[in-house]
Amino acid sequence: MKLWGGRFTKETNQLVHNFNASISFDRKLFRQDIEGSIAHVTMLAKQGILGNAEKETIISGLNGIMEDIINKTLLIDGTHEDIHSFVEANLISRVGDVGKKLHTGRSRNDQVALDMKLYTREELTQIKELLKDLLEVLQNTMKENLDTYMPGFTHLQKAQPITLAHHLGAYFEMFKRDYTRLSDIYKRMNYSPIGSGALAGTTYPLDRDYTAVLLGFDGPTLNSMDSVADRDYLIEFLSALSIIMMHLSRFCEEIIIWNSNEYQFVELDDAYSTGSSIMPQKKNPDIAELVRGKTGRVYGALISLLTIMKGLPLAYNKDMQEDKELTFDSMDTVKGSLLLFTGMLSTMKFNQPAMANSAKKGFTNATDAADYLVNHGVPFRDAHGIVGQLVLYCINKGIALEDMTPEEFKSFSPAFEQDIYEAISLKTCVEKRNTTGAPGRAAMEQVIALNDQYLKSLSAN
Ligand code: ARG
Repeated sequence: MKLWGGRFTKETNQLVHNFNASISFDRKLFRQDIEGSIAHVTMLAKQGILGNAEKETIISGLNGIMEDIINKTLLIDGTHEDIHSFVEANLISRVGDVGKKLHTGRSRNDQVALDMKLYTREELTQIKELLKDLLEVLQNTMKENLDTYMPGFTHLQKAQPITLAHHLGAYFEMFKRDYTRLSDIYKRMNYSPIGSGALAGTTYPLDRDYTAVLLGFDGPTLNSMDSVADRDYLIEFLSALSIIMMHLSRFCEEIIIWNSNEYQFVELDDAYSTGSSIMPQKKNPDIAELVRGKTGRVYGALISLLTIMKGLPLAYNKDMQEDKELTFDSMDTVKGSLLLFTGMLSTMKFNQPAMANSAKKGFTNATDAADYLVNHGVPFRDAHGIVGQLVLYCINKGIALEDMTPEEFKSFSPAFEQDIYEAISLKTCVEKRNTTGAPGRAAMEQVIALNDQYLKSLSAN
């Protein structure tokens, strides 16, 4: 069925129809389209624009369509242009002429704006849930690894010792920000565009506040042109999704490094890794690599939508139909990535001895040796130079700082005493760092307690 037969004298060219049609992808919106229509019709009846009996007939027809699509007795076929015309045509074939009243006081422009917002709202909520699951896995793993020493890196060079809990805590902060970012977007987007018509509202006495309440919005949008032309919330959403993927991708990169033969900090569970068709010894981190790789699709979607929107005059333009495939793909990609990543993380084994051993080997306690001298009256710049010489000496001898004899220490500076060994032990290096946010146990325990409270507040929502 065409929605615009009256003005036209020719059939649409088939290729034009195909190029124009969106049903192959906007079929995903059938639920939201029907829910939106039910709210719209309910409001029309309340305002006396439709009779109550008409409302009932239309709603039961719409509910029937919803059920039939869900139990697959009604297939969404490609003969209709989009999901909106499909539902309307089906309604008319079910309930007759009264079905033709559904579109009173509405345009597909405000209808699609509504459907897309409803869909995005649900996806956003699901993604928040997945982030929460990931935060919980992180928090549990942190609690188990407050004393798991490992090297902290800068420039991928061993820098100072930290703990695994501290390292994972950095990701906890990132995903916590992602969660709050989604909450912020939800608040800003949660206004209902329906009732804005094609662009200029309508002459029917619609109650837009009422429809907004029925659909769980905080109110109606306040400019009918903006209502149909706005895709900011999708751009914000894709931007938040891009940041989530960026975080996942960085984490994946680290896991790939940690899982390498050279590091062996972690071992992936067999269920979350793959083998090679030719090299029998291989156990590959494909999931981590795929998540890292899929980040590109989500960034691409963000840039695509920004580009689609940049030159559009007000109000609706068909260009905006291009928002759907890329947004749907990004939503699916992020949900899949979060789910798989969390599974991989929660089944992964951490090789604590390998981590501690690596922290011992890379002179990660050199800063602490310099701090020791400072505490014994040597100016920091001099201390830095002395420890630099010490490191060079140890590299040449193939030993660690703590392997030097007291005499060797003394030969570099008379300030070194017997307690240097204690001062530069891995344990001291970590445990002395107790400024807020630092890796020492006392500092970490404070953060862990805050994280617990935070996770609890999410469950309470
Ligand atoms: N399929 C269209 C979209 O996704 C629906 C709105 C069509 N409106 C119109 N005036 N052609 O944007």
